[in-house]
Amino acid sequence: MSAAPTTSPSPILVTGGAGFIGSNFIRAWLAQETSPVVNLDKLTYAGNLDNLGDLPPTRLEFVHGDIGDVRLVKSLLARVRPRAIVNFAAETHVDRSIHGPDDFIATNVVGTFRLLECARDYWQRLDAAEKPAFRILHVSTDEVYGTLSAQDAAFNEANAFRPNSPYAASKAASDHLMRAWHHTYGLPILTTNCSNNYGPYQFPEKLIPLMIHNALAGTALPVYGDGLQVRDWLHVEDHCEAIRVVLRGGRPAETYNIGGNSEKANIDVVHAICDALDGEHPRGDGRSYRSQIAFVKDRPGHDRRYAIDAAKMRTELGWSPKETFESGLLKTIRWYLANQPWTERVISGAYRDWIHTNYSAR
Ligand code: NAD
Ligand code: TYD
Repeated sequence: MSAAPTTSPSPILVTGGAGFIGSNFIRAWLAQETSPVVNLDKLTYAGNLDNLGDLPPTRLEFVHGDIGDVRLVKSLLARVRPRAIVNFAAETHVDRSIHGPDDFIATNVVGTFRLLECARDYWQRLDAAEKPAFRILHVSTDEVYGTLSAQDAAFNEANAFRPNSPYAASKAASDHLMRAWHHTYGLPILTTNCSNNYGPYQFPEKLIPLMIHNALAGTALPVYGDGLQVRDWLHVEDHCEAIRVVLRGGRPAETYNIGGNSEKANIDVVHAICDALDGEHPRGDGRSYRSQIAFVKDRPGHDRRYAIDAAKMRTELGWSPKETFESGLLKTIRWYLANQPWTERVISGAYRDWIHTNYSAR
């Protein structure tokens, strides 16, 4: 394969770029980098082109399709000739994976495998100048490591995988495929394992946007079990910056843990949301949004605690998060208050059916 006769920088291929983190990543990328982006997305319930509507079409091409569609992905790679692939495409909601794991296996395991095979074929045909620079960055989660007790040290990159939910198992499988495709075929893979993200454009099925939406709608704030499960929260813009840093300077075959150093119990997160909303957008009756909190039946197999040791990101690549949980949460709440039509648009009929499935039996 010979180099394309162009002076403009080679594009990157982003998969799943119409979702929460992918759309934030593309926004930050186009603001800070020169290469254009091609976004391959299946547009599942979680993919929303509204998230990218204000970005310049001259630097962002959208392709509708599945990472598991070998014919489509092969021809896309041959046409676009990306210098990197950043793989966000996945089914991502733990509760959905409990009610229906099939889509998680289809996309996160089989889809990732097919994407990898297409990438291998493409990479093997690159010429001697292009080949060493090519990267595949696979975006994964801390949930592959399983759960921690209160006394355990935070997850580092040497922790064994002990996934507990169908979602976590499917992501762990995809991480293993990435590892094996490097080890066996030499494919230049980078993998990131990140803690819970929050921020603008997050689908209101995940804890923080769900609580903001329900609070404003005047409905119950459903806290699972005792609400003492701990997550390590990271603002999405910090995650996106970390991914760019790994893509630029990470060593192929290495995995990088990314976290916010911000462990919070779920009930404390919900209290913080209620208190911020009480200040920013008080209820009409003068009561606190805390009055809407309802403890409901726990998630089966609910992991107790996640925590990330991000020392490798800090020492090797000089990355650390810029937002504190408090500053990031306030920014996020203000975004959701200013963008209520966005939330209304993504809450389709299908989403309402899901709410009924997940919450009515609790
Ligand atoms: P999301 O659910 O908001 O978006 C997923 C996107 O992938 C959607 O646009 C969807 O249409 C697309 N997609 C799904 N199946 C596809 C397929 N077969 N082919 C092409 N596109 C497909 O997810 P998110 O929260 O933005 O997460 C992105 C990635 O980051 C995922 O791989 C997830 O495992 C990982 N991650 C998420 C978090 C988090 O807190 N949200 C934390 C760590 C890692
Ligand atoms: P979630 O946002 O689904 O992310 P994950 O399961 O990947 O960590 O949930 C975050 C935490 O919040 C998790 O411990 C489950 C809990 N949770 C609730 O208590 N109530 C809810 O309605 C939801 C969606 C989550």
